[in-house]
Order: sequence, then C-alpha cells, then structure tokens
Amino acid sequence: MNPEKIPSEKTEKKDSRTLKGMRDIFGDEYYAYQGFYEKATEIAIYYGFQPIETPVLEEESLFISGVGEGTDIVDKEIYAFKTKGGDRVALRPEGTVSIMRAYFENGFQSQPQPVMLYFYGPLFRHDKPQRGRYREFRQFDLEIIGTSKSIADAMIIKLSLLILEEAGLKNLKLELNSIGDKECRTEYRKELVSYYKKHLKDVCGDCRERLKTNPLRLLDCKNPECQPIKNEAPNAISFLCTPCKAHFKELLEYLEMMEITYEINHNLVRGLDYYSRTVFEISNRDDGPEASALAGGGRYDYLARRLGSKRDTPAVGGAIGVDRVLLSTGATTPHSRLLKKPKVFFIQLSFDAKLKSMQVIEILRKAKVPLAQSISKDSLATQLAIAERLKVPYTIILGQREALENTVIVRNMNNRSQEVMPIKELGEYLKNLK
Ligand code: HAM
Repeated sequence: MNPEKIPSEKTEKKDSRTLKGMRDIFGDEYYAYQGFYEKATEIAIYYGFQPIETPVLEEESLFISGVGEGTDIVDKEIYAFKTKGGDRVALRPEGTVSIMRAYFENGFQSQPQPVMLYFYGPLFRHDKPQRGRYREFRQFDLEIIGTSKSIADAMIIKLSLLILEEAGLKNLKLELNSIGDKECRTEYRKELVSYYKKHLKDVCGDCRERLKTNPLRLLDCKNPECQPIKNEAPNAISFLCTPCKAHFKELLEYLEMMEITYEINHNLVRGLDYYSRTVFEISNRDDGPEASALAGGGRYDYLARRLGSKRDTPAVGGAIGVDRVLLSTGATTPHSRLLKKPKVFFIQLSFDAKLKSMQVIEILRKAKVPLAQSISKDSLATQLAIAERLKVPYTIILGQREALENTVIVRNMNNRSQEVMPIKELGEYLKNLK
C-alpha cells in the first residue's frame, strides 16, 4: 500500500453522518412505512394497478424535458452530476417522468390501454430541509396511462383519498383546478401575462421572473405583497374550451357520485410543467391552515410528446408523500403483516443447545408459529425475564440435556406448567396450542 494513501488520524476520527435532509429509518418507524406500503399496495392491486420499479438514476435530460426548465425541481432542486464516464445523470426527483419513459421503452403502448401502474420508493430534491420536507423522501405513486377519460382522473383522486383514509387521516381537504389543454391554456396564459404586466410594480422579484419563464407559476406565489394581485387574477376555468369544460364537469360528477367533497382552487397550478386539464392536491385540515400537501397530481396528456413520442398518450396520476403522511395529525399506520406478535419465546442454554437452535427455529417457521428469541444470552433467568416482558404465552427451553435427547421443554407462562416434547413434534404441538 502506498504509505501516502493511509488515512491520517485526523480523517479517521471524523464521524460519518447522513447527508442533510436524509436519514436512516429503522425500528417502529420502519414498520410504519412498511405497513403503509402494504396497505397502499393492496388497494392499488385491488383496483387493477400493476407494480413498476424504475432506476433511481436516469439521464438528466429526461427530467429536463419532462418536468421542464423554469420549474423549481429542474432549476434548483435536481441532484444532477457528471459520471466518471462523462454522462450527465440525475437522481429521480419524481416518478411520473420515469414511468412514462418506461411505458415506451418496455412496449406498454402495445398492451390493452389504459395501463395502470403503481410505484413506491425514494426520490431526491435539493430543497431546504424542514419538518416534512426532506432531500430524500418517499412517494406512493399511481399512474393511469393511455386514456383521456375523466373516470381515470376520478379514480386517481378516489384512491389517493382512500389510501390516506386507511392511514387514519379523517379530515382531508381535496383542492381541484383545471388548467385546460394546449388550446385554451395558451389563451389563458396570454391573459394572465397581460394582467400581471399591468401590475408589475406591485409584485415581488420572483413573480417578475416567473412572468418571463413560467407565468402559470405566478399563481403559486406565497409572498404576502403579491396576494391582492393574485386574488384578482383571471382564472383558468373561465377560459376552458368546450372539451376541457366537459371533461372537468364529468370529473366533478364522478366526485359528487362518490360523495367526495372538493374545493375549487383557482390558484392551484402545481410546480411541474407537464400538467394539462385536471390538477389536484390533498392536505389534512387537522395539520392547520398552512399544512403542506400530502398528495398531489393531475393529468399530463402532453408528457409523452415532451419525451419524444410521436403519438398522443393521455395520462393522469398522483403521488402521496409517505413521510408527510406518517407525520400528519391522526396518522395511524396499518400494521405491517410481516410483524407477528410472538407466541413463543425460545430459550437456548449451552453451546450444544445453540448448535441445534436453527433446526428448531426452522421447524417452527414452517409450522407458522411466531417466535422471539435472544441469540446471544446464556442465562435462564435473563431469557425468562425477556419472555415475561414480551408477554408471550409460551416459552420453549432447550438445554444441554434436551439437546442430546432431541427434546425441548415447553413452558406455559401463565400457569407455569411444563412438559417435555420431542423436537420433531414441536411444530404441530405449538400450532394447536391456544
Ligand atoms: P409533487 O406534488 O411534487 O408531485 O409531490 C407529491 C407529494 O410528494 C407532495 O404532495 C408531498 O407530500 C411529497 N413531497 C414532495 N416533495 C417532498 C419533500 N421534499 N419532502 C417530503 N415530501 C415531499 C409529484 O411528484 C408528481 N410526480 C405527482 C404526479 C404523479 N403527478 C402525476 N402523477
């Protein structure tokens, strides 16, 4: 080894830590995420969605074309870098663009349409970290690709609400808007620009910039000085062309039929460029008036063309921010099915017993008897104390003698009775005990 390469004492002592806005997830919190994913997956599959997983790393240009220049995600938040081979790549900041790429790359367009896909996993945005806003965060995402029918919009909204309700949230607020298609939106954008041009001196610097780069985002401005101008701005719904109006009206009918209450928010435009027609966001009223969105989405009929497709591929989707849901007031995540309350605590005494212990565990696993154990503890008293604490109804004790005789002692923790049992009969026996 080159002596110059040996790390100095100084570098060795430095604590390694996760990056800002990123964290380790373990213990009960891990199981809360797991329980959420299991429930959401069950609902998605029930409604006919198929799973998809896309790479965490993609070409940077995919997100620039898909999400759009002039959006915060592309301009400020994307984690993009050059590989050692010289390629420009990016950590995915959202899922929809990758899923649309995957749809074409894997020939989904030749399957019966629409194709309904769900995805969950980590995403990366270099945002200012705060409670509920991380640089690595997780979404559960639903996409319906290949139909312009309003029932697809309604289904995405319904399922997003359903999954949030199953996570224990009761006081959900659904905000909706329609930003039209390329025909009527062009008209609307012109009107918005001309309105803001008249009020240039009354709005903030960011708004003056947005006017040049991305005028719809003017309606996103949270700056108090801009609110009076924003409140009087022309709204997109009154510019909708006849087909867009009909589409929006149908969506509202579906929602009313499902008894889903909604609020129309004329300022809802969303921070990604690919949307057309329906846009929506869901928040929890119990999180307070400034609560950030737990889920958001909308229709993206032109994304396929932005990514280079020659044919129109209408689509709609939505994503739930899982980290935010778990922090939200009233969240009670569904129990993970992987976690079973142990019925038996397995006490192993002596080296001979430990040698046999895996064999015993395997018998119990096959018999589907949930078990807890403590692999490195040797004393009977310590292990019994753990069993008491876990409130398991039974313990099995494998000592040196039992190991030699291929038996175990089964102890009823309630009445303290004990009996000796051959190892090979243990699975059936424990399975049938109440
Ligand atoms: P989005 O609104 O950017 O939409 O994100 C959806 C949800 O992800 C947000 O409502 C929020 O709960 C969560 N989220 C976003 N950024 C963060 C963050 N930095 N930390 C924690 N949670 C966050 C999209 O990503 C679209 N792809 C949704 C979609 C799917 N549209 C159509 N299909």
